[in-house]
Amino acid sequence: MSKAETIYLKDYKAPQFTIKTCDLVFELYEEHTQVTNLMNIERVDESAKDLVLDSIELELLEIYLDDEKLSEDRYVIEEEHLRVLNVADAFKLIIINKIYPQLNSELEGLYKSGKIFCTQNEPEGFRRITPYIDRPDVMAIFKTTLVANRERYPVLLSNGNKESNFKLDDGRHGATWFDPHPKPSYLFALVAGDLGVVQDKFVTKSGKYVRLYIYTDRGNESKCKHAMKSLKDAMKWDEEVYGREYDLDLYNIVAVDSFNMGAMENKGLNIFNSAYVLADEDTATDANFMGIQSVIAHEYFHNWTGNRITCRDWFQLTLKEGLTVFRDQCFSADLNSKEVQRIEDVDALRERQFVEDASPTAHPIQPDSYMAINNFYTATVYEKGAEVIRMLHTLLGEQKYRKAMDLYFDAFDGQAVRTDDFLWAMGKAGGIDLEQFKRWYHQSGTPKLQVDERFEDKKYTLVLTQKVPKSVEGSEQKPYFFPLKMALLDDNGQEIEARTLIVTQEREEFVFRAEKKPTLSINRDFSAPIIVEQSHNDYAFLMKHDTNSYVRYESAQSFGLQCIENMMKGKEIDEEFVSAFGHILEEDKLDLSFKSLLMELPSVSAIMQRQEIVDFDSIYAAKEKLQKHLALTFKDKLFSIYSKNHTPDSKELDSLSIGKRAIKNRALKLLSALESDEAVAVANEQYNSSVTMTDRIAALDVLENTSPEFSTVALGHFYKKYNKDTLVMNKYFSILAASHREGTLDRVMALQNDPAYNELVPNLVRSLIGVFARNYKHFHAKDGYGYKFVADRIIDIDKINPQMASGLAGAFKIYKKMNRTNKKLMKTELERILLEPSLSKNVYEIVSKIVKG
Ligand code: PHE
Ligand code: ZN
Repeated sequence: MSKAETIYLKDYKAPQFTIKTCDLVFELYEEHTQVTNLMNIERVDESAKDLVLDSIELELLEIYLDDEKLSEDRYVIEEEHLRVLNVADAFKLIIINKIYPQLNSELEGLYKSGKIFCTQNEPEGFRRITPYIDRPDVMAIFKTTLVANRERYPVLLSNGNKESNFKLDDGRHGATWFDPHPKPSYLFALVAGDLGVVQDKFVTKSGKYVRLYIYTDRGNESKCKHAMKSLKDAMKWDEEVYGREYDLDLYNIVAVDSFNMGAMENKGLNIFNSAYVLADEDTATDANFMGIQSVIAHEYFHNWTGNRITCRDWFQLTLKEGLTVFRDQCFSADLNSKEVQRIEDVDALRERQFVEDASPTAHPIQPDSYMAINNFYTATVYEKGAEVIRMLHTLLGEQKYRKAMDLYFDAFDGQAVRTDDFLWAMGKAGGIDLEQFKRWYHQSGTPKLQVDERFEDKKYTLVLTQKVPKSVEGSEQKPYFFPLKMALLDDNGQEIEARTLIVTQEREEFVFRAEKKPTLSINRDFSAPIIVEQSHNDYAFLMKHDTNSYVRYESAQSFGLQCIENMMKGKEIDEEFVSAFGHILEEDKLDLSFKSLLMELPSVSAIMQRQEIVDFDSIYAAKEKLQKHLALTFKDKLFSIYSKNHTPDSKELDSLSIGKRAIKNRALKLLSALESDEAVAVANEQYNSSVTMTDRIAALDVLENTSPEFSTVALGHFYKKYNKDTLVMNKYFSILAASHREGTLDRVMALQNDPAYNELVPNLVRSLIGVFARNYKHFHAKDGYGYKFVADRIIDIDKINPQMASGLAGAFKIYKKMNRTNKKLMKTELERILLEPSLSKNVYEIVSKIVKG
């Protein structure tokens, strides 16, 4: 372990120098790229003598200071720095160096995705391109010239607007781009390739004409329609809801197949994982379409929350990410179904973030230390961060929140700021003291709220007790300040009273008047990211009657959890739950997507999170038994829901059509628990006759998990049809890796040799290895082979792409809670990983934290 050094927020120091302008020339060749970097630099800290630039694996060709070529005694090449000795107050520095994008498998800095040159510089990729003060509080104006072979790379892009084109005699050509907005290096981007393009336009509310382009591999142009529409919807929404207009004449999006994350908000030149751009009904599911809409919007919204106002340092990451996720969630809620969107966002939070928050890798949304900053693009910083912004929105109300956002933009436009600056604007325009609220930024773990109630003399008393967990390091943490939406309902489900309580104390009582004992509906809309613990409950009543759709859903989930937990303790199936479930099936007026969510049984992860000591075998046994019982009890009703909503020729994307697909596929999945020929035949017929990927995937999933023979045939057909389409192959690998059938690990291992698989492409690794590592049944198999396999992959992939490897290591986060047998097996593998001689700091940080916990 060479560089497992911990970096602390408390050690933050302002930069000693700043870079005013950065003019770059990239000469792109097949073997290497030559970078010429001309910077105008100024001293800001009088006491600083040497200029220290960040640089990784520097191959320096030449260096000039104010046009004088520097001799070797004027600079030092250090491990990750270039130090220029004794510089003046202001000077011009030219650095010429050589890099090898073709060999770059980490996908940070300049690299190749297939035949396309592209970049990824957040958070610290730019230092792999050229020596620079690679931190977000150094903002410069960039001018970029790209030179490359004209035939191979007809398209040459960078940030901002194109200034000029030129041709060279040797078959090369070039383009120069200029971005007038000062920006940190992490927002720099370039692309060179032979790309197809789709064009559109948007006129801003003040009449500015913006050209929109989406670039993709040739042949995929027709799959960009939804992305383009989403972009225009997002531009309009940000004008209407936040009053924010776009600020360049041009907006470019490029889709690439090899990308570590979802997408990147580089100024005027977003680079996207192609999974979040390309879609048509034949190859993308309804969920994919939604994902595209939200990621396109997310990156667009970053233009104001992230780019115009950026982060002072990487500890402030949630300043832009939590806020931008909140913005994209609201956008999706406005454009689709509010109630469904909220439930799905909460679900995602609980599946991923709650697990993280309960693990030794738990951290506040604003961490105070890190080893590898790449490890902090987490569900906590993003999704919990968004919940924290949502609480501010609830506390302030729509109008004051908007005033506060306006103040934030006014006060900090063009600057690199802190979460405290954001909170200052919220507090000031909101007229609210946020001192205690700040704990959400600095404490970790999910708080629990114990809810007790009393009713006497027409007085209803709500007793709330906050149980705040200790930090990972074992220190006490303090009670939170949060909005708690609640209502009291009468026997018909009518609201007697609906309020937003402000909770601030460890223990607090709220008193209400009521004629009869009311039913409590609490944490409506999931107004705070907490775990509610109720001593006694009215789940059956609330899942039928609550006027708040989130609480209806939540009650169905809690009721299901209670039922499954009792089964795990050896009790019989709770017939009250069964009948409440039946009641939902009979409800005909519900939105179909919402109804399908109400029919969802608690996930294995949700059950697992409530166990003190986890054993997946017993979780699966109970859940499968309940599933089968429900399927048997409601067989006819489920088949009738299926046939009523199954319209195989429909590929429409309106909410009714999406809802019909959602509910009939939910019914089919439940029916598949019967393992009957009938259900298998229906799934098989659906696979053969459907025209949407949503229906095909749902059918394949059922076949794979119930009928090896039919599955082999259908998957064989699927493979033949789509093996050249890597985005569809992701789905193929995922279905097989998530399979509950025996022999899954062997098949996953064999699939690594499939010609469609490639360990260098993160999407494929996530679909095969990542999905397997979250297949609790097989990953946690008691023979330990699941752990061993994933550990082997982590070790191998770490040599290729540390960010991918540490992502896979996340599957071990539940180590602490596992039963003895599994824990022992896990420990062996985790320790084996730590013994690897050249382990990256990324994997080291995650695995060592897990083992220590
Ligand atoms: N900033 C990107 C986003 O959230 C995420 C990202 C981080 C992409 C790091 C690549 C690398 O939109
Ligand atoms: Zn983001």
